Amino acid sequence: MQVRLQKVIAASGLASRRQAETMIRSGQVTVNGEVICTMGVSIDPSRDHVKVDGRHIKSTEPDVFLMLNKPPGCVTSMRDPLGRSTIADLLKGIRARVFPVGRLDYDSEGLLLLTNNGDVAQACLHPRFKIPKSYLVKVAGVLNNQEIARLEQGMVLNDGPTAPARVKKSGKAKVNSWVEMTIHEGRQHQVKRMLEAVGHQVLRLRRVRFGPLSLGDIPIGAHRYLTDKEANALRALLCDSSRQLSTEETQMRTVGHVPPTRSRKPNPRKEGQQRGTASLTPSRRTLKQ
Ligand code: URA
Repeated sequence: MQVRLQKVIAASGLASRRQAETMIRSGQVTVNGEVICTMGVSIDPSRDHVKVDGRHIKSTEPDVFLMLNKPPGCVTSMRDPLGRSTIADLLKGIRARVFPVGRLDYDSEGLLLLTNNGDVAQACLHPRFKIPKSYLVKVAGVLNNQEIARLEQGMVLNDGPTAPARVKKSGKAKVNSWVEMTIHEGRQHQVKRMLEAVGHQVLRLRRVRFGPLSLGDIPIGAHRYLTDKEANALRALLCDSSRQLSTEETQMRTVGHVPPTRSRKPNPRKEGQQRGTASLTPSRRTLKQ
């Protein structure tokens, strides 16, 4: 990937972009031994050797963070052996080597973060960080209070107990209804399995928030680069690696999102409350609108 020289110098942490431009103009910078003192030069950070004042700089590719509104009927992968449509089809023209942070099911839609920064990706996915992920889910029927309580207490699935979820009713159609569900883990088909366990088939599932990021009004199938504020909120997760983030703390950092005022349920794991049990696997189904 070709990247502007001043951007490479800035990404190395040596100087700001503006300072890097000054360094280039004053002849302090060489690329592969040749002094570069004009603006507009791009290099390949993985191949070219950049020195500032005779000292080699570690030229990493600048961070790239993208948010895609994944449509249903699209695989969260850059290639699909079955020849189905993939997210790569939606990211043509992105030259950076980005990869998805976690997955959304083939029939799920919504916020998918992509980055070339492996450390941030790892922090987002590591269970220790308990990154909240919120989904708007259309379910068959209407959840009653008992069912919501079971989801909020945490339940036992076939791969072990879940942490408590947060569930909020979010609208009702004639027969079916919408809920907003927030979980802090990233197990396969977790939202579908939890809702099925309380007797409600998932008809549509859209991720609307991922840690500090909100999907907003990105059209289905479209993407945008994160703002500096959003990217910094993700990088801040790395700075917090020495201590465990609490759910509420992470939500407070949500960019442009006001956390619900509702109080949290006690953690049944800590307090020995009864957990629900769940059916083992989600049934195969076709999602309907
Ligand atoms: N939970 C699910 O069941 N599916 C997804 O795609 C994401 C979360």
